[in-house]
Amino acid sequence: MALPHSVRLVEVGPRDGLQNEASPISVIDKAQLVNELAACGYAYIEAGSFVSPKWVPQMAGSAEVFASLQRVPGVTYGALTPNLQGFEAALAAGAHEVAVFAAASESFSQRNINCSIAQSLERFAPVMAAAKAAGVPVRGYVSCVLGCPYEGAIAPAQVAAVARELHAMGCREISLGDTIGVGTPGATRNLFQAVAREVPLAQLAGHFHDTYGQALANIYAALLEGVSVFDSSVAGLGGCPYARGASGNVASEDVLYLLQGLGIQTGIDLDRVIAVGERISQQLGRANGSRVAQARRCG
Ligand code: HMG
Ligand code: MG
Repeated sequence: MALPHSVRLVEVGPRDGLQNEASPISVIDKAQLVNELAACGYAYIEAGSFVSPKWVPQMAGSAEVFASLQRVPGVTYGALTPNLQGFEAALAAGAHEVAVFAAASESFSQRNINCSIAQSLERFAPVMAAAKAAGVPVRGYVSCVLGCPYEGAIAPAQVAAVARELHAMGCREISLGDTIGVGTPGATRNLFQAVAREVPLAQLAGHFHDTYGQALANIYAALLEGVSVFDSSVAGLGGCPYARGASGNVASEDVLYLLQGLGIQTGIDLDRVIAVGERISQQLGRANGSRVAQARRCG
């Protein structure tokens, strides 16, 4: 398939990134990160998560983060919501869009959200209904699509079944997450081919982690399958608190560099994202996970 002319990048650093960073970060600093990213040209930023603070303490204060944003017109500020309680909090905070998250593996579902896959889908039903009533679009995530830290290999058909359910419930877009970054390009192509038989390709997104250094190759493989939406995280922030070894999300800077090289438009300013990544990495006292940022610093 021909490569897409443009790609939409969903910036997940303030949520998927910060939720797994060891250094505490204040509400003001979280909001600053989101504001800086909005100035880079992103159309979609996942700005926080309305989950139990006992489960993910780093995301406590997301309501205050939303309240502190200097919102840029045209930017969608999204939030992760596991249940109706989270949805109501996200709605009150002014999230433009919410995301529900299911897993392709039963063990990961239990460890991440304390219920089976089927129970998680049941919990999403009232979220979908409330979101529809409020006119809030819903994104769906499927985790562990190319492997699970507890169960190992995951069959594409398992992922396709969960994605089909999320789509049937009304999710606008479904992001397939290689949560532990074990996937390779051939498996990525097989996965998207299998899921695209159940959900229109235009409604699928790729969410890759770089644990095994395969994320950019997997994105290229997904582009060849016609996928045109990808999640990424500035400076490669994050991982997943319930997936040991999930070293980090693919760095936004590296994805932007790849896409620029392919002549694919994103509307996002790479140099500005590099500057934001350098600043937040310094603030967190961590190495910048973007290879492009490292190369620019040396060059
Ligand atoms: P539970 O303990 O089974 O829930 O947790 P519960 O309904 O029994 O409630 C227990 C307590 O949590 C109660 O408080 C509730 O009020 C509270 P208490 O009475 O004990 O004081 N609670 C909440 N508080 C705030 N916001 C809420 C909320 N809901 C209940 N929305 C639950 C179930 C789903 C809540 C929990 O397991 C949870 O919050 N899990 C979140 C896990 C998480 O955020 N993981 C990371 C995101 S997924 C991810 O990163 C993967 C992804 O990025 C894709 C990829 O990378 O591949 C999407
Ligand atoms: Mg992730």
